[in-house]
Amino acid sequence: MPVLVFPIRTWTVARQVWSTTRLTVSWLFTRTEFANYAYPISQRNRNHFAWFVAEACRTPVDEVLGYFDEIESNADLRRALEASAVSLGRRRELDREFSLGRRLSWYAAVRIHKPRLVVETGTEKGFGSAVIAAALTRNGEGHLVTIDIEPSAGGLLEGGSDDVVTRVTMDSVAYLQGIGDPIDLLILDSDHSEHHEQAELESATPHLSPNAIVISDNCHVTDVLANWSRSGGRRFLYCHERPEGHWYSGVGTGISVVREPRN
Ligand SMILES: C[S@@+](CC[C@H](N)C(=O)[O-])C[C@H]1O[C@@H](n2cnc3c(N)ncnc32)[C@H](O)[C@@H]1O
Repeated sequence: MPVLVFPIRTWTVARQVWSTTRLTVSWLFTRTEFANYAYPISQRNRNHFAWFVAEACRTPVDEVLGYFDEIESNADLRRALEASAVSLGRRRELDREFSLGRRLSWYAAVRIHKPRLVVETGTEKGFGSAVIAAALTRNGEGHLVTIDIEPSAGGLLEGGSDDVVTRVTMDSVAYLQGIGDPIDLLILDSDHSEHHEQAELESATPHLSPNAIVISDNCHVTDVLANWSRSGGRRFLYCHERPEGHWYSGVGTGISVVREPRN
């Protein structure tokens, strides 16, 4: 029996491998992105992210979907990103369809939670920072500090968002150890090693405000946020991106929230 079904099993695997190979070859010759890839996610996946945020933030899913629509139709943000990308000469590195992927969940979390201080570790081009800044601007309050070890990071933020964003060039752990203000929303997206994520979280913990939300884009790689949530008596939820038309298997976003929010 195993010998008889072997060709069928081989055919099933070959179809899967061929599909990824086709996307990989096309990507190699048509895109120039080097890291932190940009891609649309499926409509179903977008729905999953909406439920993910709704459950984490105890908010009706229709409200969350409204925030997703709001950022996706934000023409000012789109124009600002395109202008910065062109001036950086990096247009082709960006998502041509302005797809935010997991960052939709960051936007909605900021819109719902109304943080006074958001800290993002890992600025890179500044795509996530621009999305968070748009949410803070829409809230009419709050500030983002985004940290990257590379002095060249944040190019997409040039010429805009200065009133709501502070860019910091240093190691994120060192910055978090010395931060003076309480952090209401922390987004971990820098060095994706387990050791660094753990160090970031330990450094930030004494500085988190009582109802702080912590998001990590590393939860497909480590259990750091899940374990930290368990030991701190928090709730932890996970959602994995399903990129469309891209060979990359997507990022796993984890969110950690307090069990009972304090007033
Ligand atoms: C995945 S990218 C960040 C993506 C960004 N948050 C976004 O939404 O597009 C990771 C960034 O972390 C930065 N990084 C790596 N190690 C770091 C460290 N020790 N401290 C601060 N930033 C670091 C890298 O230079 C890189 O730009």
